[in-house]
Order: sequence, then structure tokens, then C-alpha cells
Amino acid sequence: MKNTREVIMPKLTIRVRDSFDFGWKFLKGDFPGAQQPDLDDTSWKDLDLPHDWSIEGPFSEYPGSSTSAHLPMGIGWYRKRFGISEEYKDKKTTVEFDGVYQNSEVWINGQYLGKRPYGYISFCYEISPYLKYGGENVIAVKVDNSHQPNCRWYSGSGIYRHSWMQVTNKVHIAHWGTFVTTPVVNTKASVVQIKTRVQNESDNEANCKLVTYLLDRDGKQIQIVETIQTIAAKRGEYEFVQQFRVETPNLWSVENPYLYKLHSELLDSDRAVDVYDTTVGIREAVFDVDKGFLLNGKPVKLNGVCLHHEAGPVGAAAPEGVWRRRLEKLKAMGCNSIRTSHNPYSPEFMDMCDQFGFLVMDEIYDEWKEPKQQTPDYGYRIYFDEWSERDVVDFVYRDRNHPSVILWSAGNEINDQVVPSGVGTLRRLVGIFHREDPTRPVTVCCNLIGAEPAGATPDFLAQADVVGYNYANGKPGRAEKYYSIDRQAFPQRKFVGSEDGSLGTTRGDYTWLFPSSKVIVPLQERDELSKNIRNSHDLWHEFEQMWKYIRIYDYVAGNYMWTGIDYLGECAWPQKTNTAGVLDSCGFEKDTYYWCQSQWTEKPMVHLLPHWNWKGKEGDYIPVLCYTNCDCVELFLNGKSLGVQGYWFPRESRRENLARFAAPCTTSDLHLKWTVPYQPGTLKAVGIKNGKVVVTEEVSTTGEPASIELVADRTNLIADKRDVAHITARILDAHGRVVPVADNEISFEIKGEGKIIGADNGNPFSHEDFKGSNRKAFNGLCLAIVQSSNRSGLIQLTATSPGLKACQVSIKINEVTKGI
Ligand code: GAL
Repeated sequence: MKNTREVIMPKLTIRVRDSFDFGWKFLKGDFPGAQQPDLDDTSWKDLDLPHDWSIEGPFSEYPGSSTSAHLPMGIGWYRKRFGISEEYKDKKTTVEFDGVYQNSEVWINGQYLGKRPYGYISFCYEISPYLKYGGENVIAVKVDNSHQPNCRWYSGSGIYRHSWMQVTNKVHIAHWGTFVTTPVVNTKASVVQIKTRVQNESDNEANCKLVTYLLDRDGKQIQIVETIQTIAAKRGEYEFVQQFRVETPNLWSVENPYLYKLHSELLDSDRAVDVYDTTVGIREAVFDVDKGFLLNGKPVKLNGVCLHHEAGPVGAAAPEGVWRRRLEKLKAMGCNSIRTSHNPYSPEFMDMCDQFGFLVMDEIYDEWKEPKQQTPDYGYRIYFDEWSERDVVDFVYRDRNHPSVILWSAGNEINDQVVPSGVGTLRRLVGIFHREDPTRPVTVCCNLIGAEPAGATPDFLAQADVVGYNYANGKPGRAEKYYSIDRQAFPQRKFVGSEDGSLGTTRGDYTWLFPSSKVIVPLQERDELSKNIRNSHDLWHEFEQMWKYIRIYDYVAGNYMWTGIDYLGECAWPQKTNTAGVLDSCGFEKDTYYWCQSQWTEKPMVHLLPHWNWKGKEGDYIPVLCYTNCDCVELFLNGKSLGVQGYWFPRESRRENLARFAAPCTTSDLHLKWTVPYQPGTLKAVGIKNGKVVVTEEVSTTGEPASIELVADRTNLIADKRDVAHITARILDAHGRVVPVADNEISFEIKGEGKIIGADNGNPFSHEDFKGSNRKAFNGLCLAIVQSSNRSGLIQLTATSPGLKACQVSIKINEVTKGI
């Protein structure tokens, strides 16, 4: 029996946009002819999108897999049967894909619709001419990710983002058809402009009226504008331009990301034919030669992180909730800016950046015409000539209404920066960006500025509105060259640290702390960083030195640390995760997270490291580090003071505060350090600001593992098959303290209205199955991500481990109250 699934659509009034994610069939492998509607696909796997087949494993050392996390790629086919009602016959129906990796080809009822090579771009096809109204339709999608390596990091494979079906009238607002700008931004009054492209695909002239409402955050109408225009039949198109003056607007900012909505209603001869909503943030974003980045007229240093699009155990098919938790953590660290390295992200990721108040460097490419060493044959360069303009245009159209986007990036470490033709290529790309969005500057992130013998030429860099400097801490003295010498040589240049190395490290691993050990920055083995930075002292020095340059010089807009979160790929077997992040692949904080927090936030915090479980090292000297935003910290071991340490950078006043203490030790470093002979017990850090104790933190020697504790980030989910909760399993000793070295194997069992969609522990070397329900703890922790079904009820997750007291957590699954 054929598996026909009716697409549930409300009766068409004016525009229907419905999820197309549910009820797909999937088969891994290539099956020529699988686009034929009558193919028997009953034995294919049933699944819902988003779907990433690579993350299902297994891990193995595949040829070229050091780019792609040693996970299988290949070819896969998707099919979906759906019905569409007769009443849509005279409408325009499209299917939209937010991202398919890669080389997708789509057929509807056997009819070829087209291909899209770039796996990170969003695209759509019109399907109305080929639909069987009132009958069964079959859409088939072939995804070919078999040519490897084609990407320098883990891409995932499949229809890994959402898909949509949309039905409009023949007279309608175009796809990505609005463009909002804020030409005047002022707290007294601002101007919002909206350009709306209306298309008439009917056979008759359309007498259009476009009515646009400006609504505040609570949906209250603030302004309304109407415009009338006749649009010619048979693909006539017109761009309406409307403006609103907004008195005392709430400006969008990092602290208060206030969002308005523009609601557009289109009428044809007084009959409502379309509606369309666009989110708006009223803000002015400027890169200034002397002052760096200004938001609404005020300098804001970009405290940025680079990310990759995948999300650890769920791979490329990351539910929105997984990114929401990750972004919340980055925000709490004081991060205010994100670079979407090195490709377009999902639409919902961009929406979240608007909502959280992140400033986004929106990047499109890692490769133009010149190959990269890791992707010599199949990188984007093979599509560049044919597709680059189309991809840039689609990218800009999709993302240009996001107030969070402050800067476009045309590319990362593009090898074209050093070849003569690169100048023209960049000029052409920048021209396309400017043509489609005259309001935002374009950067290009370069690693070869000043490189010998052939670096990025001034001619090349002059094409960019803002010059992106990668790795100011990549080599001793480089920060000075970039941000002092270049500033003198090119006084009109705008600077941003588009990518800088972080302190790396693996969560809970402290081998790097000990002087003889080499720093764990595995990926950087291959580049000059490892040649120049031999131990943790040098790494610290370069990192903090660069950081001070960026703080001190207003003209440097800020920088983006590589990376905010550990990511899959870019590492040699058996390592599968790149550990550059300050959060690990579970989203657990590493110590370096707190280093950033100490520099980027004001609310008093102290963080001590390492752990204090050094059995067998009694009497040995252990370096103890403290990251804090306090003026100074007094450290105690088992109640005995080990002295006060404090910094003076960046405020001289800190030094004065220290004068209150006997024999304080000051430093111009950005971290504090004691060397402590080990004895078990408790280390206590007491943070002092303006002479007062404002915060304390303790680290204690723990006992052996005794029990498991489960901590859910959310205990109420919606029954929409999408909502997720993150459940952290913590291995505790008999006193309820996390055992920082515990690696007990945990078995998760789930009952009720949900499933486990990913389990992980952040260990870069673990080859355990991300989709399995057994997982070893790594340095005391592991994670299970659970997703709701579409029925209300309860999820019960139990964690057991031999010899440990088990634990259970319950999560309520609530009925969907509004449509998904
Ligand atoms: C940079 C590059 C990143 C990543 C990083 C690893 O040069 O832009 O994509 O490869 O190195 O250290």
C-alpha cells in the first residue's frame, strides 16, 4: 500500500506557509531512477527532517576524513508523498529548503526542478505546474556528498535544515521580497524604510494596494502606510518603497534587542491577496576608521567568537533549542558577536541572533577560485564561476533584514588573496553585496596580510570596506604588526580581528598546566602557531598581548576567537572534535570560558583551576590559576592564606585597591597565578572589588564516584517533535561533589513521549555512537539531548551505572498551543 500523507494545510485564505519536514522516506546510497513517482519505497526508512545521515556514524578512518570527523558521507535519497487540495489549483506553490548538504537535485512527480551545489545556501522551487491537485504527489531529492573532501570541517549530509511548502496567490509578495532599512536612527525619532517587491503572475493587470503596519513588540500598531500601484499582467513586478517615522523608538542593541514587526497586506482591487511579516530592529551600525564599531552612535567592542554550524552530537541537523542553549551560554560569557564561519547558517539561527542581541559577521565562503590544501578537488571553487553570484544574492536577500547582521564577509582565508586575479574577484563580490545591500560593509578575513614571500596585497585589501585580520596571536609580534604598524601605514583602513586563536584545551584536562608539557592545540600542529608557541606560557603571552592591543586601540573594532564551541572535524584520526572552543561539544564550559567571562563581563566572578584531585602528587607544586573580573583575589588552602594577587590592567585604580593588602602581588597578565604545594582539601578564592569581598569560589578534593545526578535545563517541552531538553549527567561523590576525573559508563533509558537524539561527553577522542544510549562520563560529566514526540505526556529519563546510585528525571510534554 502506498504511503500517502496529506499535507495538512489550513484552507487557503491568502498565504500558506507550512512545515514540509514530516513524513519523509530515506535511503542511503544511489538509486538511479529513484525520482520516479511509482517507485516502491515502502522499505525505505521513515524519518522527519531535519536529518543528517553522517552523524549516525560509524566513526572510521575514511580517506580524507580528517576534515569531516571520520564520519561517513556519500549519497542519499529522500522521498515524500503528499496530497494537495484542488482549491490550490490556481495558486503558486513552492517548496523551500533551508539547507541541503550538498549537490541536491529535486524532482516533483518525476519532473526535474534543478540542482543546487552549495550545501549551505537556502533555495526554493516552484512546483505548481507539475502538481496533481486532489491526487498524490511525490517529491524526490537526491543528495550527493560523496566527493570528499569538499569542506574543511564536518558538513553533515542530507536535508539537514527545515523545509517548507508555501502557497500564494498569483499576485503576491516575492520570495524574500522585503528589504527593511533604518536610514535615520535617533532616540527621539527614527525612520524605517521598507521596500517590497510584488509580483503579478496572473493573466490580468493587478490594481495593487500595499498596506504596511508597524507593530511594536507587543503587537500594538504604531504606524500604517498605504501605497497604490498597478502592476502589469504575466510576470509584472513592482517595488514599493514605504517609510515610517517612529517617535521615541526602542533601539535594537546588545543589551536590549528590541524587535518591531512590519506586517504587509497586499490587496488586488480591494481583495486581500497576500500577507507577509518582516522583523525589524531599529539600529545604526557603523564601522569607523578611528573609533572602531559603533552601535547607535556608541562604541561597542566586538567580543566575538567564530562558530561552525554543526552542534556536536546532533550534527548538522541541530534543533533550534540546541542552539538556543549554546547561545545563552555565550551571552552569559559576555560574548556579543558571532562570526558565522565560514558559510550561511540556518534562518532560525539568524532569528535567534536578533532576539539575543548578537552582532553578526555573516560569512558566505571558505573558498573562491583557488583551491585549499585540504579540499584540492571538490571544494566550492568548482562551482564558483557558475554559482557565486547567485549564491551571494540569495544569501543577502535572505539575511539582509536581520538587525543582528552588521557586516558581510565575502570569505575566509581565501587563497585568492595572494594571486593577481583575486583583486578582481573580490571587487566583483563586494559589488554584488553592495548592489543588493547598500547599507552594510563587506569584509574579507585574511591570514596572509604581510606574509612572506607573497602576502595579501594592499590592492586586494583595499577592495574590502573593513579589513579582517586573522590570527594576530599567530606569531610573536604579529599583533603589533597588524594593529600598530599597519595602522600607521594605512590610516584609512578599518580593522577587525576576524579570527584569533583561543587558548584551546580539552575540558577538564590539565596536562597543559605543567611546564614540561606541550600545549594541547592539536589542529595547530600543522601551522606556524605550533612552531612559535611551545608552551603554555608563550601561548598565554601571545593571547593576552593580542587581547590588550584590541582593548587599547579603539580603531580595532574587536575580534573573533577561534572558536566559541568545539566542532566536529578538522582533526586527525583518532581525534574527531576540534578543541578550539571555550565550550565543549556538549556545550559544557571549559576553564577558558571563564577567562572570557572575566574580561567581558562586570558581574563579579572568580574561577579557579585546576581541580584539586591530585592523589599521588602530595607535596608537588601545582600551578593554580584564577580568572576573575575582581580587582584582586586572596587564595586560601585549607583555611591558610596563600596571598593576594591582583591586576592593574585595564584600570589603574585596581592598583590603588591593592595597596590595602600587605605584600600583594600585581600583574599585567590577565589571569592570576599561585604555585601551591599540593595537599588534599579545599582551595578557596575570595574575590575583592573596591576593597570589599564580592564573590568566592571553592574547589575541593573529592571522594570516589558514588551517584549520578541528572540536571535538565528544561522540564517542560512542547509536543511538537522539535522541542528539546538537555540533560546533564554528573558523577558525584558521597558528599554531592562532581568528581572531576570520573569516567563511569552511563546507560540512559527513556520512556514516554520523547526520544534521545544525541548523547555526548565532550571527549574529542571518543568514538562512542552519538545516537546510542550508553555513554562514558568524561571528566565527571556527560549529556543526553531528548526531543518531544507530538503527544502530550511525560518523558522519564533514567541513568544507571554499575556501582553508582541511579537517577531519574521527568520532563513534562505539553500540548502545542499555537501552530508549529
Ligand atoms: C584558521 C581557519 C579556520 C580553522 C583554524 C584552525 O586558519 O580560518 O577555519 O581552520 O585556522 O586553527
